[in-house]
Amino acid sequence: MISMKRGLAMVAVVGLTVGGTPACSNSSSNPFAPGGTAFFSFTDISLGSGATAATGNRVVMDYVAWLFEDGPSENKGPQVDSGTLTFVVGANQVIGGFDQGVLGMRVGGRRKLIIPPDLALGYNEAAGIPVDSSLVAELELLDAQVVVTDTAPFTIIDLTVGTGSAAATGDRLLVAYGGWLYDESQPDNKGTQFDSSDSNGFTFTLSAGQVIAGWDEGLIGMREDGERRLIIPPELAYGASARGLIPANATLLFDITLLTTTPQ
Ligand SMILES: *[C@@H]1O[C@H](CO)[C@@H](O)[C@H](O)[C@H]1NC(C)=O
Ligand SMILES: *[C@@H]1O[C@H](CO)[C@@H](O)[C@H](O)[C@H]1NC(C)=O
Repeated sequence: MISMKRGLAMVAVVGLTVGGTPACSNSSSNPFAPGGTAFFSFTDISLGSGATAATGNRVVMDYVAWLFEDGPSENKGPQVDSGTLTFVVGANQVIGGFDQGVLGMRVGGRRKLIIPPDLALGYNEAAGIPVDSSLVAELELLDAQVVVTDTAPFTIIDLTVGTGSAAATGDRLLVAYGGWLYDESQPDNKGTQFDSSDSNGFTFTLSAGQVIAGWDEGLIGMREDGERRLIIPPELAYGASARGLIPANATLLFDITLLTTTPQ
């Protein structure tokens, strides 16, 4: 398994709390595009002394954002947003500029970011933020914590029993799936989503060591068109090694639809 791609579409824009509306123009065609384009960069205003923010951490930060403009002091045009955010770094819960910009900050530190449009709202727009805007933002990191999952024993739940062939050891399986950190405080125990299959699905050979042990054991006997939920403790998943959004010793939850199973 399971590439650590960042599969989720960013839902509305967080941070910049808005329902972004897709727009049909961009800077080359939009005469009202704001002034100036920018490359991503950051400057530490003050270095903190607390924990260092890393991918997969749950962080709390204050932020203020301005439109980027050539000319004004520090490139700060009109202020467009401010607030306090709690999010998991790298999980696409905020604009890309915040996911990148908070990395390596220490709690108590303050950092100024220059954020180009593709790491901000891109071709969406929001109150005060035209299409294709670069932003200036200042962050203050208030907290950074390694996420600890809840624990659970290995569990197989058939959400839907399929009607097709049953998967057997050595079969070639095509599945669609999503993967979440196991979190009892969330609906369906789904914490941060760390992975999902793309529109092509995901193909592997069952019980051949190509995927985590919880999949190799948990999908045997499942029928085509069925959907199964697997709750997988770390010893049947990634153990004590952290991996992207998955912390060390994490219990994971997968919802897996079996599309086809093909004997080899
Ligand atoms: C945005 O700009 C790109 C490159 O300049 C162009 O190819 C694309 O058609 C534009 N999109 C819209 C919606 O105007
Ligand atoms: C993961 O679990 C192992 C075994 O219980 C333990 O030794 C290790 O310290 C844990 N790692 C973390 C980061 O919690």
